[in-house]
Amino acid sequence: MNFIKEEFERLKIEDNVKKIFSPDPPEFSIEWGMKYITLSPSKRIRPLLLLESNLVFNEIDDDSYILANSLELIHTYSLVHDDLPCMDDDDFRRGATTLHKLKNEAYAVLVGDALLTKAFGLLSEYSKTDRLPAILDVFYAKSGDKGMIKGQILDMEGENRKLSIDEILLINKNKTASLIELAFISGGINGGASQEELELLQNIGEKIGHIFQIQDDILDIIGDQKELGKKVGSDSDKNKSSLPLVLGVEKAREVLLTFKAEALALIGALPSNKEFFIKLLDFLESRAK
Ligand code: IPE
Ligand code: MG
Ligand code: MG
Ligand code: MG
Repeated sequence: MNFIKEEFERLKIEDNVKKIFSPDPPEFSIEWGMKYITLSPSKRIRPLLLLESNLVFNEIDDDSYILANSLELIHTYSLVHDDLPCMDDDDFRRGATTLHKLKNEAYAVLVGDALLTKAFGLLSEYSKTDRLPAILDVFYAKSGDKGMIKGQILDMEGENRKLSIDEILLINKNKTASLIELAFISGGINGGASQEELELLQNIGEKIGHIFQIQDDILDIIGDQKELGKKVGSDSDKNKSSLPLVLGVEKAREVLLTFKAEALALIGALPSNKEFFIKLLDFLESRAK
């Protein structure tokens, strides 16, 4: 964990996320809500992965942080909407009261919308304009109706049904691995990765996405609410079929470790920065928050 934390500090990820917002938006303005949920304590795992993927090929620059912030806003919007009463109906997120509880549902919907549109607004500052179409394309593809949103729909349709392992893995691939793949691919594009290297990054992102979601689902069963900053037991309350709810925690962990072995094999093919990703896998496998 220390190595990951050191990287997080070294790359000044939090300082950069803070720069998105003005210092003192009026309470309950749209920007206030955007800032409230975005700056509540978060691991910032997606920006970190994006920057580390960039570092495999090249130094980090201002564009790297634009991409990292944009991705963090998309992720944050997805959480605001995921927590709404019409979806997972959760009252806590990132250790704080969710926006629909704090004010009302319309406010939470609109703050989510504003975070998403702001994410694409930030991309207008991206300076390597020859790469911008590819960046916009992957941001759309991984966050939209063929990526994260597709996963969220499948997740909702899967409530109150016993899903097969393949159905659960399809949900996880879309709702969670998509944005992790986005981190890897966009970091790679900014770093100057080749097409072949981008495919490798995407495959690593997919495996890490699966690991991340299985551990999220395990922590929903055996995690500590305070440490997690969100409610435990949300999945069984909503009658979802997560991998550990269907297979049991032990067996789900075995599946996680299979993904870890596959990820390690792919990481071995990276031209550099392998050490970070190997340590990251150890962290993701054992994280308690
Ligand atoms: C949500 O998965 C993935 C998103 C696209 C937001 P979960 O519903 O399991 O995430 P948590 O447990 O609420 O964070
Ligand atoms: Mg959900
Ligand atoms: Mg949820
Ligand atoms: Mg969860």
